[in-house]
Amino acid sequence: MKKTLLLLLLSAGFLTASSQNIPLVNGWKFKTGDSAQWAAPAYNDQGWQPISILHSWESQGHDKYDGFGWYRLHVPIPSALKNKAFFKDSIRFEMGYGDDGYDVYLNGKLIGRNNNGDIKTGYYGLCKVVVAANTPAILWDKENVIAVRIFDSGGKGGIYGDKDMFKMSMLDVMDNVYFNTDDDFTYGEKNGLSKSMKISTGSNYNYKGKLDFKVTDPETNAVIYQKTNDADFSAGRPFTYTFSIAALEQKSYVITYTFTDEKSGEKLVKTENTPYVLTPYVSSKPKINGPDVYGVRPGNAFLYKIPATGVKPLSYKADNLPAGLILDPATGIITGSVAQKGDYPVLISVHNRLGTASKKFTIKIGDVIGLTPALGWNSWNAFGLSVNDAKVRVAAKTIADKLSAHGWAYVNIDDGWEAPQRAATGEIVANEKFPDMKSLSDYVHSLGLKFGIYSSPGPRTCGGYLGSYQHEEQDAKTYGDWGIDYLKYDWCSYGEIAPSQPSLDDYKKPYQVMRAALDKVNRDIMFSFCQYGMGDSWNWAGEVGGNSWRTTGDINDSWGSMSGIGFHQEAEAPHARPGHFNDPDMLVVGKVGWGDAQHNTKLTPDEQYTHISLWSLLASPLLIGCDLGHLDRFTLNLLTNDEVIAINQDDLGKEAVQVLKKDGYLVYVKELQDGGKAVGIFNVSDKYQTITINWSELGITGITKVRDVWRQKYLITDNKAFKTSVPSHGVVLVKVSK
Ligand code: GAL
Repeated sequence: MKKTLLLLLLSAGFLTASSQNIPLVNGWKFKTGDSAQWAAPAYNDQGWQPISILHSWESQGHDKYDGFGWYRLHVPIPSALKNKAFFKDSIRFEMGYGDDGYDVYLNGKLIGRNNNGDIKTGYYGLCKVVVAANTPAILWDKENVIAVRIFDSGGKGGIYGDKDMFKMSMLDVMDNVYFNTDDDFTYGEKNGLSKSMKISTGSNYNYKGKLDFKVTDPETNAVIYQKTNDADFSAGRPFTYTFSIAALEQKSYVITYTFTDEKSGEKLVKTENTPYVLTPYVSSKPKINGPDVYGVRPGNAFLYKIPATGVKPLSYKADNLPAGLILDPATGIITGSVAQKGDYPVLISVHNRLGTASKKFTIKIGDVIGLTPALGWNSWNAFGLSVNDAKVRVAAKTIADKLSAHGWAYVNIDDGWEAPQRAATGEIVANEKFPDMKSLSDYVHSLGLKFGIYSSPGPRTCGGYLGSYQHEEQDAKTYGDWGIDYLKYDWCSYGEIAPSQPSLDDYKKPYQVMRAALDKVNRDIMFSFCQYGMGDSWNWAGEVGGNSWRTTGDINDSWGSMSGIGFHQEAEAPHARPGHFNDPDMLVVGKVGWGDAQHNTKLTPDEQYTHISLWSLLASPLLIGCDLGHLDRFTLNLLTNDEVIAINQDDLGKEAVQVLKKDGYLVYVKELQDGGKAVGIFNVSDKYQTITINWSELGITGITKVRDVWRQKYLITDNKAFKTSVPSHGVVLVKVSK
C-alpha cells in the first residue's frame, strides 16, 4: 500500500534541538517472513542478512517482495543518556520511515505500532516510538534488542531513511516546544518585510530565556540584522515576536530564530527564508493569456473561458467561431459544441477602457483533448481525506477570481468524496461531505471552470474509500451525468486483483477498461493515470489513452522529494506530446497539509521558484496543491507569471531535457513552438553560485534575445556566453530567441 498521510510534518532539518542522540544506524539484521519468536532478545539472529537502513529491502536482494519482514538490532542503552538529559522521563526510538505497517519490540515487549492492531492496515510513515524511561523493558547499561516487524504491500518495503533519522534520545526540554512561523509576511516599502511568529509549548515546564533573531544574506554571508529579546512561555501562554526588516534586495534572506532556555541551557533553532516577489504587477491594459490551441471532440460539450487580464470591465469578442459555439461577451466563456472535425482559427479580442488586445487561437475539433498540460487545482496536497464541498467551492471561487485570468481552469476533488456503500443499483454515490455533486459541478462550470474527480481501479482507493472495480462503466456514466471533466485514476488495492508480479499487460489492463468506459460517455473527460510510473508507464500510457500519467511516487514539501522527482525525468521526457504528458505529481507550494491542518510549504522561496520553473519546463500538468482560501502574495506571484506559464502551455508540447549536469548545477532546455527555447539554470548546491554558460554547450547558436521570464525583462548578454548569479536551490529561467 502506498501512503503519504503520515508524512513527516515536523520541521526536521529546519528545527534543531541540542539534546544528545545515540545513532541506531549500523548493525541491523534482516529476515523475510514472520514469527513471534523473532521478537525475543535471546533468539539467535546470527544467520540473518546484514542490511543497510539507508535503503528499502527491495533494493537489497528482495526485489518486489511484499509481505512480512523483520529487522533486529543489538544495542547497549547507556544510563549516561538519561543522566545528561534535563527531563528524564521518556526515551524515544526513531527508525526512519516504516513502509508500511510496523510493530516495534524492545527486548521482546511490544512498545509501539502504527496501526490499531492490524499491521496490514498500517500506512507508510515515520517509525518512531516513545516509552517511559522507567519501563522494565529497557535494560540500562546492558545490551538491548530492538526488533521491528514490518508488513509491506506494493511499496519498497522495510525501515529506511537518512542516517540521522535512526537514533535514540531522551525527550527533553525542547521536545515539546514549537516555533510557529506560518503567519504570512506583510510587504512594506523597498521590499521591507514584517511578520509575527510564536513560540509555544505543551509541556508543564515554565520556559524563560532569550530569543535571538538574526537575518543573514546568503549571498555574502553577512549578518544584516540581529536582536536578542527576553522570551518566556508556558503551556497555554505562547510568546509572540513581531519584527520588521527594512529595505531588502530582491532575494531570499535567512532568518534564524534561536531560543535558549536559561535554566536548562538547552537551545532550539529554526530557520526560515524570506519571500521575494519576482512577477511584475499585472498591467491594467488588456492582455490575453493561456494556450494558443484548444482541443475538443466533435459533438461534445465545449467550455472555455478566455484567460485575460486588465482592468475591469473587460469585454470579449471572437471572430470566426465555428458554428455551434457562442461567446458570452461579458465573461469570456465560450460554450456549445461543434459537430465537424477540423482546425478552426479564431481571432479572440479583449477590450477595456485602456485598449484592445487580440490573439490568434486555434480550436481543434478532433480526437485529441488536453493539447497542453492541465492547469488547475487538486484537493489532495492541501486537505487529504478531509476535503469537502465547502473547501472545493472556496478553491473554485479563488481560481475564478484570482487565477483563471492566467489560464488556471481545473478544480479537482481527490480521494475522500465516496460514500461507504454503492446505491442498490450499483451506482457510486458521494458521502455526506458532498451533499450534491451535480450542483457543485454546475457551480464550478458556471465560473467557466472544469470539474475533476478521483477513483481507483481496485475495490478500494488509497484512502480506503470505494474504488471502481467491476463498476467502471457505471462510474464513467455517473461522471458524465455529474459533468466531470477530469478523472484521476489511481492503482491502490488493484494490487489485490493483478498478479503479484504484474506483466506489462496487467499494468495496462485497468486503464484500458476505464478508457473503454469513458469512451462510451459523450463527454470530454481528461484521463490522468496515477500508478506511480509502474511498468515504465511513459512508454505506453499515451497509447492506452492517458492524457497524463504519474511517473513517480507521491511528492511531499521537501527539497529532497521535489528535486529528487523533478531532476530525474530523463527517460520519460521524449514521451511528452500534445494530449499526452508526463506527470511528476502535483505542486507543493503555498499552504499544504494533506489533512485538516495546513502549514507553509517547507520548500524555501527559491526552491518554490525551482519547482514552478522545472514543472513548467517538464510540460507537466500543473495542479496547485494548496489551500486556496489562504493564498499569500508570494504564492500568487508564483502562480500568475504568464511568461512562465506560457512555457508550460507551449503548443509544441515538448518536455525539456537536461543538457548540462555540472558539479552543483543543472541546465534544462525546452524547445518552443516559435523556434525559441526556454532555458532553466538550476543551482542544486548549498551556496550561491555565479554560473557562466556558453550557449554552444547547450547547442544554441545565433541568439539575439535573452529574456528573464520571472522578472519579464530582456537581459543584456553577448551571443556566446551567459553569466548569472543563482541562489542555492534556486533557478534562473530565461527564454532565448533569434
Ligand atoms: C495516492 C496518490 C495521491 C492521492 C492519494 C489518495 O496514491 O498518489 O496523489 O491521490 O493516493 O488516497
